[in-house]
Amino acid sequence: MKILFLNGPNLNLLGQREPETYGRTTLADIESKVRARAAQLHVDVEFRQSNLEGELVEWIQMAKGTFDAIVLNAAAYTHTSIALRDAIAGIGVATVEIHLSNVHAREEFRHRSTIAAVCRGQITGFGAFSYILGLEAAVNINDSKNKP
Ligand code: DQA
Repeated sequence: MKILFLNGPNLNLLGQREPETYGRTTLADIESKVRARAAQLHVDVEFRQSNLEGELVEWIQMAKGTFDAIVLNAAAYTHTSIALRDAIAGIGVATVEIHLSNVHAREEFRHRSTIAAVCRGQITGFGAFSYILGLEAAVNINDSKNKP
């Protein structure tokens, strides 16, 4: 099984960026934690980050036929991007929406997700552990799909 982790804008700044909200863990640290858990679960992961909406759209499109699931922290594009929503809806690869912070406990503009309805579910508010929960959810979706 292959899982694609996609990270949106400003997540390259994790560790330095608003640590009171996002913690001190860097994206590289998160990637290491995800890789360690993925090895235990015997799944392959690829980890990418972009500040560009179009690049994220292209990576979602290319996941079709290559990856079994996507775990997506779309960051600010979560709240604005119809392009990401359409890409997810268009490829039919199970996608799990994740966030470090609890977006529902923050500013009102973060309560709305343009991608939630086309994702299998949303994990929000568990800090770096949201990524591990996203991995577990993606594996579980795949296991359930393969059950008779
Ligand atoms: C975020 C929440 C978004 O509202 C915000 O724009 C981010 C990060 C999170 O992981 O908590 O950049 O997706």
